[in-house]
Amino acid sequence: MMPDTVHIPVLLDETIDGLAPHPGADLIDGTLGAGGHTEAWLAATAPDGRVLGFDLDAGALEAARERLAHYGERVEFAHASFATMGDIAPERGFAAVDAVLLDIGFSSMQIDDPARGFAFSADGPLDMRFDRDQPVTAATLVNTLGQDELADLIYEYGEERHSRRIARAIVAARPFHHTGRLAEVVAGAVPRSSERIHPATRTFQALRIAVNDELGALERALPQAVDLLKPGGRLAVISFHSLEDRIVKHFIREAASDCICPPDLPVCVCDHEPTLRPVNRKPITASDAEVNANPRSRSAKLRIAERL
Ligand SMILES: C[S@@+](CC[C@H](N)C(=O)[O-])C[C@H]1O[C@@H](n2cnc3c(N)ncnc32)[C@H](O)[C@@H]1O
Repeated sequence: MMPDTVHIPVLLDETIDGLAPHPGADLIDGTLGAGGHTEAWLAATAPDGRVLGFDLDAGALEAARERLAHYGERVEFAHASFATMGDIAPERGFAAVDAVLLDIGFSSMQIDDPARGFAFSADGPLDMRFDRDQPVTAATLVNTLGQDELADLIYEYGEERHSRRIARAIVAARPFHHTGRLAEVVAGAVPRSSERIHPATRTFQALRIAVNDELGALERALPQAVDLLKPGGRLAVISFHSLEDRIVKHFIREAASDCICPPDLPVCVCDHEPTLRPVNRKPITASDAEVNANPRSRSAKLRIAERL
């Protein structure tokens, strides 16, 4: 059953203003979700701006399709990863666009629905897939990876310093089929701490990132997004943890640089042509008012860059 939650778009005004909308402008929204950012773009680019919205989650696409139905042909939908936009967007008439948006991670509809298995706070199947057509779930990883592989995954994607203990406890207690028991076993494996977050937070983040290949998809999508932008077009990425933000920051820095030679070379030999100009040097974060109204915005970082 779908929960009643509606995803509140994060950094909405900052993102849409930063993408410099104008009548007739086209957006590729790589993470359509509930369609909040897309709807604001369609309003700001009336009467004829368009959106091609991607989402891996067929349920999210269906809900967004209903919400945006009154925009008619101004909005199109793709049940596919944003990491395939380079192939799909030109086929759908979005070969040179004014803006690309990636608001990465999960939506409130996903995390608040225990049946999706993203949350440790409510018991549900150990799933965590954005795309329910894909065969690998969190249970697959937890029940089949070797102890060292599991520890490395939890360390790398969860930045969890107790990853070895957690992996040992998981392997001793598996198989797992539900989120609640996994959260209990993880909590029992780590020393008590004064941190305010649940002890399983980092392990769940790591599993979600791995199940959905989230960092790989982001790395593949960024160069495709740049190729799809018109000169003067803008890329906006909203990320929610340091691993994602690091990828975006480094990508923009390199794309904006006129030399990407290794630092120990005495002269430049790369002839690198910059393709982006950062619009904001520091990431934009949510105001206190937004964080109070929507605590999920607390960790959001928005970076915007312009195609040269
Ligand atoms: C934070 S929500 C987006 C919310 C949206 N901006 C809004 O205003 O409602 C992220 C969405 O991206 C989707 N998603 C995550 N990774 C994806 C990928 N690689 N390709 C396409 N969609 C993805 C998730 O299924 C989720 O619906």
